[in-house]
Amino acid sequence: MRTDSGQIFRLEDYRESDYLIPEVELTFRLDPQETVVSARLTVERRKNVAPGTALELDGDGLRLSSLAIEGMPAAADAFEATPERLVIARPPSAKRFTLDIETRLQPSRNKALMGLYVSSDVFCTQCEAEGFRRITYFLDRPDILSVYTVRIEAEKKSAPLLLSNGNPVESGKLGGGRHFAVWHDPHPKPSYLFALVAGDLGVVTDSFTTASGRKVALGVYVEHGNETRAAYAMDALKRSMRWDEERFGREYDLDVFNLVAVSDFNMGAMENKGLNIFNDKYVLADADTATDLDFANIEAIIGHEYFHNWTGNRITCRDWFQLCLKEGLTVFRDHEFSADQRSRPVKRIAEVRGLRAHQFPEDQGPLAHPVRPRRYREINNFYTATVYEKGSEVVRMIRTILGEDAFRAGMDLYFERHDGQAVTIEDFVKAFEDASGRDLAQFALWYHQAGTPHVAISSRYDAGEKSFTIEIEQSVPPTPSESRKRLMHIPLAFGLVGADGQDMAFDTVEGAVVEDGVIHVRKRHHSVRFTGVPARPVLSINRGFSAPITLSGETSTDDRLFLARHDSDPFSRWQSLNTLFTEALLAATRTVRGGDEPLFASELVEAAVSLAANDTLEPAFRALALTLPGEPDVAREIGANIDPDAIHTARIALLKAIARAGCATFEALYAGLHDNAPFTPDAQGAGCRALRNVLLEYLALADESPTPAKRQFDTADNMTDRAAALTVLANHFGETQETRAALAAFEARYADDPLVLDKWFQIQASVPAPETVALMRSLMEHPHFSITNPNRVRALIGTFAMGNQRAFHSADGSGYRLVADTVLALEAHNPQVAARLATAFRSWRSLETGRRDEARRVLSDIAKHENLSRDLADIVERTLA
Ligand code: BES
Ligand code: ZN
Repeated sequence: MRTDSGQIFRLEDYRESDYLIPEVELTFRLDPQETVVSARLTVERRKNVAPGTALELDGDGLRLSSLAIEGMPAAADAFEATPERLVIARPPSAKRFTLDIETRLQPSRNKALMGLYVSSDVFCTQCEAEGFRRITYFLDRPDILSVYTVRIEAEKKSAPLLLSNGNPVESGKLGGGRHFAVWHDPHPKPSYLFALVAGDLGVVTDSFTTASGRKVALGVYVEHGNETRAAYAMDALKRSMRWDEERFGREYDLDVFNLVAVSDFNMGAMENKGLNIFNDKYVLADADTATDLDFANIEAIIGHEYFHNWTGNRITCRDWFQLCLKEGLTVFRDHEFSADQRSRPVKRIAEVRGLRAHQFPEDQGPLAHPVRPRRYREINNFYTATVYEKGSEVVRMIRTILGEDAFRAGMDLYFERHDGQAVTIEDFVKAFEDASGRDLAQFALWYHQAGTPHVAISSRYDAGEKSFTIEIEQSVPPTPSESRKRLMHIPLAFGLVGADGQDMAFDTVEGAVVEDGVIHVRKRHHSVRFTGVPARPVLSINRGFSAPITLSGETSTDDRLFLARHDSDPFSRWQSLNTLFTEALLAATRTVRGGDEPLFASELVEAAVSLAANDTLEPAFRALALTLPGEPDVAREIGANIDPDAIHTARIALLKAIARAGCATFEALYAGLHDNAPFTPDAQGAGCRALRNVLLEYLALADESPTPAKRQFDTADNMTDRAAALTVLANHFGETQETRAALAAFEARYADDPLVLDKWFQIQASVPAPETVALMRSLMEHPHFSITNPNRVRALIGTFAMGNQRAFHSADGSGYRLVADTVLALEAHNPQVAARLATAFRSWRSLETGRRDEARRVLSDIAKHENLSRDLADIVERTLA
């Protein structure tokens, strides 16, 4: 394992490399125990670099077996090779020269899952961000673009399939039961996009003809026997390819596109040029084994990786500080894709819930960093919700500010100007400035300044003057190493909603630039006055979540209920009800802590019931409207001195209050939503199931009985309904015979299906009860638990640490110790996954004192360990700082 040198990388230290590597020829002689990699690099000295300047290549845990310079074996004193570096002090003075580097790897022993490794007998690679240096010595940085030719040799029997990037050029037999294939990728690419796959896999094939008539052969490779579970992925791929042509004018650019599913993978998926590699969780799906959420994730992630072909691969990042250039933009593109394929408002609500659940706590805690960070110790720790989700929101705001047409013109200019280059956020923003003629200098602070801006709003109507005035005040809270913040450009979409639910017109506006339903907040304080407003409107603000901010204001309950019923913006309807729920839960949490029973206003409970029954609204929207804020949502609003038990009790009380008030309505709805049509994974079918399953929890709580859930579990014909029923049983009726029987039946039925068994672990890990900690210890002893499989670790420990606020934060610290033990056990072989799990502690300072002390102690214990990986040391030290 690479131990920490403490080195910090800084944006301002960026320097072009002295040398380029225009061409790379790789030969892999694959063997699980000992693979030989021969790399021939064509090295080119840049203009203005003195001949003979030292060349220093990156390595990570490498063993050099031979080196030749210009075809001649290098003398021992001509170079210095360590596992981390290959330095040639006096390279040839010619403008171009070749290096032949041979390294030896042990792929079957690679449990870090970076570089070349073996997963279920399949050789595969993961090179982003700095994994290529675990394969050969290289200038392993994204601004070095090379044309790759890759020859793979392997045993034919165990590895009939040999894949790499680009197009296939040659294949044939070798002696000794071996064979080979050669691939050539004509598009210059950074090393992080290199990939190789070799093994024995099943395949689903299809083809796609691009808008300009190029016929592309498509292949989705999965474990034998799983081919039928790859059909949805193939369909999603073809829809992604068409969509990028229609919405962004972007065509695919090779003759083949291959996608491989592997079962040991640190992340979700990877966009290697022409050869995307996926965690099989995001490929395999059918009605019996995948939930609607799985289907939606597959569509989104297939789209995401495919869209990287232009935003990431054709135009890549100059350095890793620019990560949001490809990730934020590509998340924005995959969000738009899903919105177009499904329901736009429902997708937007889900995005905002995700942003608040993942990015807001990051931005408000010790790990806060700008969308474009200025320093890092370990780049793997910067694949964050801020870079991804807030990065996407920033692109969305550019569209809001520019409008659809100028936004598209800016994207077109970006593609035209920078195709084939490795660029920066400044280049990206400049394309929009140039295409629109707008000045985005203040706006660009969204990339550079960490923290969630806060906007305080108040408003008043003057009946005599028929004017309406909104007072707006912005502030950005301090974040680590950024105590003073500059004022931001915040686009606030809004409407003045009249009694009939329609937006009211007005005559004039002063105090801020207001365009196309957007108030442009640029100063600390704006007093925005509208004239010609005939009656008091209800203000609907930050419609569609036009800016990723927190809002406060003194909107009355009546006004919020009015917006929940009548706003023309569906997001704002959902938000209004959600804010009312949150406020009710905050008050109830205080009541619980005071030792009393919480009570809830009947208007709120009735509003929820009537929204559920409103069949002019789509079922998926109603399901979201009826979903209470989660326990972490309430914790975030409380902000300090958090008591997770009180939050849990308050939330259950509100669930029960709604369940009791709505029980007759819910029962009728639940029965009426059932149809006997065969399962389809589309948005409509999923929406009905979502509503039914939200209702199921209410029915079970109203009945105080496991019967409705048990019935659904027994009769379900799809995994969405089955898993939802099992979740209700486990969460609310854990002690019953029904729950024990259902868990056992589920385990027996899916014992041989790892992705489904993950759900079994996940459901149990998320039960919000103090006993869950003890159960976790026994589940970790389960014969199917494996610490080396990231999906299994995430399903069990990840769910517990990040998806079970109450049990993770058990008052005695037992949840913290369980997670810390796992982090340290993981650390030994997979630092990347260990560090990610450790981020579960990031909000420790906002807990009540007892838990805060326990968490601090556990974190300090981790920090004291010797030889921590760079990944984990970085997270733990920043979290404690
Ligand atoms: N480029 C990333 C994969 C990656 C992440 C490589 C971190 C190395 C380190 C890929 O495009 C990606 O972003 N994948 C996401 C899913 C996506 C839909 C947000 C992932 O793996 O979680
Ligand atoms: Zn990505």
